[in-house]
Amino acid sequence: MYEHDVIVVGAGGAGLRAAIAAQEEGADVAIVSKLHPVRSHTGAAEGGINAALREGDSWQDHAYDTMKGSDYLGDAPAIETLCKESPKEVIQLEHWGMAFSREDDGRVSQRPFGGLSFPRTTYAGAETGHQLLHTMYEQLVKRGITVYDEWYVSDLAVTDEERPEDRTCHGVVAYDIQSGELSGFRAKEGVILATGGLGQVFDHTTNAVSNTGDGVAMAYRAGVPIEDMEFIQFHPTSLPSTGVLISEGVRGEGGILYNSEGERFMFEYGYASNAGELASRDVVSRAELSEVNEGRGIDDEYVHLDMRHLGEDRITDRLENILHLAKDFEGVDGLEEPMPVKPGQHYAMGGIETDENGETCVGGLYAAGECACASVHGSNRLGGNALPELIVFGKRAGQHAAGKDLGTAEIETGQQGEYELGEVDTPVQPGEVEPAGDAVADGGVAADTGSLSGHDVVEHAVKRERARIQSLMDRDDGVQHAEIRSDVQKSMTRNVNVFREEEGLKQALEDIAEARERYRDVFVKDPSRTFNTDLIQTIETRNILDTAEAITLGALAREEFRGAHWRAEAQERKDDEWLKHTMLSWNDGTPELWYKPVILEGEDKEYEPKIRSY
Ligand code: FUM
Repeated sequence: MYEHDVIVVGAGGAGLRAAIAAQEEGADVAIVSKLHPVRSHTGAAEGGINAALREGDSWQDHAYDTMKGSDYLGDAPAIETLCKESPKEVIQLEHWGMAFSREDDGRVSQRPFGGLSFPRTTYAGAETGHQLLHTMYEQLVKRGITVYDEWYVSDLAVTDEERPEDRTCHGVVAYDIQSGELSGFRAKEGVILATGGLGQVFDHTTNAVSNTGDGVAMAYRAGVPIEDMEFIQFHPTSLPSTGVLISEGVRGEGGILYNSEGERFMFEYGYASNAGELASRDVVSRAELSEVNEGRGIDDEYVHLDMRHLGEDRITDRLENILHLAKDFEGVDGLEEPMPVKPGQHYAMGGIETDENGETCVGGLYAAGECACASVHGSNRLGGNALPELIVFGKRAGQHAAGKDLGTAEIETGQQGEYELGEVDTPVQPGEVEPAGDAVADGGVAADTGSLSGHDVVEHAVKRERARIQSLMDRDDGVQHAEIRSDVQKSMTRNVNVFREEEGLKQALEDIAEARERYRDVFVKDPSRTFNTDLIQTIETRNILDTAEAITLGALAREEFRGAHWRAEAQERKDDEWLKHTMLSWNDGTPELWYKPVILEGEDKEYEPKIRSY
């Protein structure tokens, strides 16, 4: 068994920042990650990092824009923490040598992004995430922080008290992809989940194949509530054939969207009469699909994004990466032709419930970055707010796990006192189907572990995980994960997309239930112990099922139109009824839906929900 004070799961922006912060607090910290750090999906982030750095801007304005962008479903303490701390974090990155784009006078450049009232998005060309990841990786190497890369964390070692709030996380179980060794990692102080997104729940996504919702699913099964899962961001400009992202930076620099009639539809049809292409993402994605549905799409599928008028110098200076992506993945020369774009799944606003210090309701378990929900983004994230979230909350989680006093959090986690239970009429019973064998359907919490030492809880979890993997490997026939995964991805894209209606949501739940049935017979065809990606993907597929179901359940329950969640049956935001967070607890395989209030009370003002227009 490996042992460290703090174990960080995942080596993207949040994980690296958490590890650096924990080490600065004196902790012996290690990162366990299924990818090498510089292959993390943060490297695909293009556009930038929002931070109120300039005269004329303020953290208060950033917070207001973020709350408005969230359609008033973000929690003020988390939003204000983000907006106050991101300038310091950007300056820290600059001091670590991050290659930001700069003005002639040497200042870090900032550009406009959707939904912002001030051009506050700092950037490094259109490869901001790549630069950020490498900058922090250098710090990791410099500090000698231990990285177990290509180790896949497949379970958490959590005690089994009845109430999740009484449980403790003592470590994780991980599978060494190179050798097939399964081992426990004991964390004496804390485990920080920084596993990133869940885009592989959908079949058209800007996310990497590695983004399978592992952290969300593991925490959920260990009893941690997951929050606001129905709010999925569909980025307006992904390439139609692959889902590869074309940065919002293109529109930030002045790129224009056209329909098949050559009309600048954002203005022409009044989708966003002031902000046009720079309305928030939910607005632009709906506009694009409305154009396609009205017969003004190109090839009945996409619209055009044109940046030719910006000129070659500006494009190569600020958006060079976009030229490569359009050429390599769509065969289009962005200097000569408009680029085809359509909405693609990009980001999960919801995730593991945490407070503003990254703590979950399970002792010793933290989450930060896209897998977490603090909640900063509410029902719609603004472009450029993901990277500051990684560094601000990654740092806070790292510090807190290492013992730094960050003050009492204002956001409460777990089921506290009286809480409102939810009701939803589902066509099938959601949750775990009757297990085919203990090993496959285990809920993630070690049995009878309340009295065991931390070391023994981890040992127990390893033993259970070994049995699960053995049972997957022992089968010599059955269904392959790829079939199950692909069917669920297609159903989610068809039924739980930008436009949602009851019938489709119910269909998705039925498809997921059927996929769960088939997963009982899942088998791993590749018998090898080394680099067995078949095995890893089989385990990931279970995480995809659990997160897909959570998204769909939340979407079916929420009968209103808020932010990225559009419902055919309910065409307005209903603050009287729905100004609340959707919470789901796994409840040993029978998901429980409940709600908790949104916190609109900020440091020195209460945010008042207003009509949201751009
Ligand atoms: O469009 C983009 O460059 C993506 C940025 C983001 O998701 O924040």
